[in-house]
Amino acid sequence: MAKQKLDIFIIDDDPHLAEMLLLHFEDLGYSCQSAQSGRQAKEKLAGLKPKIFFLDQHLPDTLGITLLPELKDMYPETPVLMITGKHDMELAIEAIKLGATDYIHKPIDIEELNASVEKCLSPKRTKKDMTITTHDEKAGEPRIIGSSRKMIDVVKQIALASTNDATVLIQGETGTGKELVAKAIHYHSGKEGAFLAVNCGAIVENLLESEMFGHEKGAFTGAAERKEGKFALAQNGTLFLDEIGELSPKLQSKLLRVLQEGTFERVGGSETLTTNAHIVAATHRDLDQMIADGLFREDLMYRLKIMTVHVPPLRERVEDIKLLTPYLLAKINQKIGKNITGMTDDAYYKLEAHSWPGNVRELENVLTRACAMNRTGIISADQIVIEYGADSAGAHDLDHEAIPLVSLEELERRHVTKTLERTGGHKGQACDILGISRPALDRKIKKFKIQL
Ligand SMILES: Nc1ncnc2c1ncn2[C@@H]1O[C@H](COP(=O)(O)OP(=O)(O)OP(=O)(O)O)[C@@H](O)[C@H]1O
Ligand SMILES: [Mg+2]
Repeated sequence: MAKQKLDIFIIDDDPHLAEMLLLHFEDLGYSCQSAQSGRQAKEKLAGLKPKIFFLDQHLPDTLGITLLPELKDMYPETPVLMITGKHDMELAIEAIKLGATDYIHKPIDIEELNASVEKCLSPKRTKKDMTITTHDEKAGEPRIIGSSRKMIDVVKQIALASTNDATVLIQGETGTGKELVAKAIHYHSGKEGAFLAVNCGAIVENLLESEMFGHEKGAFTGAAERKEGKFALAQNGTLFLDEIGELSPKLQSKLLRVLQEGTFERVGGSETLTTNAHIVAATHRDLDQMIADGLFREDLMYRLKIMTVHVPPLRERVEDIKLLTPYLLAKINQKIGKNITGMTDDAYYKLEAHSWPGNVRELENVLTRACAMNRTGIISADQIVIEYGADSAGAHDLDHEAIPLVSLEELERRHVTKTLERTGGHKGQACDILGISRPALDRKIKKFKIQL
């Protein structure tokens, strides 16, 4: 008997949430069914052919991540949206590697879910071919903290890049976590070889060349022994080329050859060597501009950015501060031997109001200073000392001299608009910062005709 067609199959043990989702999507014209456990799902699915799954992580008899491969076996073409209450980016990467199409956090933003469902059901959906790799839990696992949509997009790129040997270019402002992303790509690739990093901006050209490609004994004064370069040492592993924008023209051409042919020679040597290291590069510079200025080879950039990951600045994902702060405080506690347990609301609002030109690294520095000053275990607003650099956008926001004299209403309009911009349109977050209720915010959006 042919299986009955169905739009959405919801697997979630929370009956209220399942019911709410069911009613919502039925209202939009989709046919829906739900199950509250892994076992019930399998029973009900016997006669069904859904177009999309919603899958919760915590089920009474199994985990979403355990059920996911079984669903993909039974319905390889059907997109699975993982829905979870846990802000766990490692879980998100694993879920996406196992074939989940998207990863949504609770509390569910229904607009976000609608958009994801529409994207999955649209016929243009590009089929991602991702293979499953498993790896043992290793110490030193890079932890990426965040819950924003933008970081989930980053995590999707990490999952793709780790199942693929294509060269990756990671772009993003300083301190956004580019190195962390590179480590996560390596970690999730399950590669046997090492993760090695070369900072292309840190040392002079000659030393850098030998660092990358190695040298023969006697190749230059001081070359007492033959030395293997990082390209050779990263065999079966990952080579992270940090600050790639700083590479000199000579080394740009040598790198291009490695990327094109996979071959190179040690400095002063003639033996042709090969490498299979996964090349992951990063830069905070605008490579397009550097190409326009004749400082970077265009052909090299195309070779580097077979895959790209853009790590967004912290000010575009203010909601991540909520998760990053306790994580960083725990990290700092350990490092400087303190026992900071939290912070006041005012201190927290101060963090959210800043524009973080130095991104997560700046947040970590500000918190480290606050922890060092603290004697009570709870960080207060006056311990959050933000040093505004010349390029800090936040400096102008808080500088009253810089604000033109406008009516209170106009100031309110600007402030509400700015807050919504900074929170990426996240109304709950904006309400928290502005200290107003959701209906009050909605009224202001309507009154000021703010476009979201
Ligand atoms: N999402 C995140 N979760 C947890 N820690 C993070 C996150 N993003 C960044 N960090 C931490 O912030 C610091 C800066 O990150 P990282 O060195 O990866 O930044 P970067 O983009 O390479 O910066 P730069 O361009 O200056 O080299 C590190 O200590 C890193 O562990
Ligand atoms: Mg870096």
